[in-house]
Amino acid sequence: MHILLLGSGGREHAIALKISQSPLCKKLFIAPGNAGTSKCGTNLPFGVNDFEAIKKSCIDEKIDMVMVGPEDPLVNGITDFLKNSPDLKNIAVIGPEKNSARLEGSKAFAKAFMMRHNIPTAAYKEFTLENYQEGTNYIQSHSLPIVMKADGLAAGKGVVICNNELEALAEFELMIQRAKFGDAGKKVVIEQFLQGVEMSVFVLTDGKNYVILPEAKDYKRIGDGDTGPNTGGMGAVSPVPFANDVLMKKIEDQVVKPTISGLESEGLAYKGFIFLGLMIDKGEPYMIEYNCRMGDPETEVVMPRLKNDLVELFIAVNEQKLDAITIETDSRTVCTVVAVSGGYPGEYTKGYEIMGIENVNQEDSMVYHMGTTIENEKVVTNGGRVFCITSYGRSIFDAVEISKEEMKKISFNGMAYRHDIGYEFE
Ligand code: AMP
Ligand code: GLY
Repeated sequence: MHILLLGSGGREHAIALKISQSPLCKKLFIAPGNAGTSKCGTNLPFGVNDFEAIKKSCIDEKIDMVMVGPEDPLVNGITDFLKNSPDLKNIAVIGPEKNSARLEGSKAFAKAFMMRHNIPTAAYKEFTLENYQEGTNYIQSHSLPIVMKADGLAAGKGVVICNNELEALAEFELMIQRAKFGDAGKKVVIEQFLQGVEMSVFVLTDGKNYVILPEAKDYKRIGDGDTGPNTGGMGAVSPVPFANDVLMKKIEDQVVKPTISGLESEGLAYKGFIFLGLMIDKGEPYMIEYNCRMGDPETEVVMPRLKNDLVELFIAVNEQKLDAITIETDSRTVCTVVAVSGGYPGEYTKGYEIMGIENVNQEDSMVYHMGTTIENEKVVTNGGRVFCITSYGRSIFDAVEISKEEMKKISFNGMAYRHDIGYEFE
């Protein structure tokens, strides 16, 4: 099979490596990829939203299957575009169609979907310029803290948790009147603040059947002890110690099943990953959000625990035969620690040489490239999150310690990482 993987982060390196290990994959291309994916297949020089270039490479390289990594092209309709191209008969695309990707692309759509299918989530209301006054009244009568969300994609920055009424009113005005998030914030979802601990569950569906992959927990804040601004994710652990069978059964019954049957009953075609962002409060799951893709850096701990052949799973998704698949999981604990550029998540400089990757012990650890590229035959930084080191261990503490030891072998100008991933489970 010839496979094209779209994306350029750590998630894509982890997926590329897993695909490249499958005997079912004859040729793998990654667009645009990073320095790490170039070792798993051939990087192609175009972006994930360049639909014409994607289509042309599908024809030129006789691609049988496209796997879409990030949400952007899905929300923009890459799946529909490829499926409807007369030149690309029978191409398999792993990733939902545009209408279904609204689960991530529109928070208002996702909340209404959860309501229609009785999926537990925070109470909410949606507002636009038309009912702006009603929105300010709603804020004034709401309990605190209050959560405000730009409806559309806002590069992970569209959620603001407000601790007082003034802040909430100011944020509401910024989003709706002053277009703080552009078109993405023309509609705003205001919702109740959920207490509890967060975790992520990953579902792969063919639109009718589904399998549940190993769960994970990520660490979003830049600083140790969960301090400082939010990032894309500074580390992750899997399994999640509190995700016992009772909780996982509740998540499956109350969230996964109604989501899959809801998509089917509403005629929302879906072949791909669904990432459930959950809050667990006193053992009860509540949905925070859907993503129509895998998480990053969660993929970098999920893939190493997945024993199945990933290409075999994707073929089953395409043929709507996931019911014949049983997920096999490595029982070891896996953790990842992310190294970031100095200044991230604020401003940072790219292009610093990364030294020492080749010295990392490959036995229990692996390096997944995130924001890297090759310049003059050297691996250099090319993003805020640069790489992560994933390790197997006997416990979370053990796995994180191994990653941190290996981290010492790599360096670049301004490199920083969290030292306390998994701290609450020690
Ligand atoms: P999102 O951008 O949708 O991933 O949300 C970012 C983060 O905001 C989530 O990971 C949660 O930590 C937090 N969050 C979102 N909605 C709520 C909520 N209703 N209650 C508490 N925290 C929330
Ligand atoms: N790590 C969170 C995400 O991928 O959205």
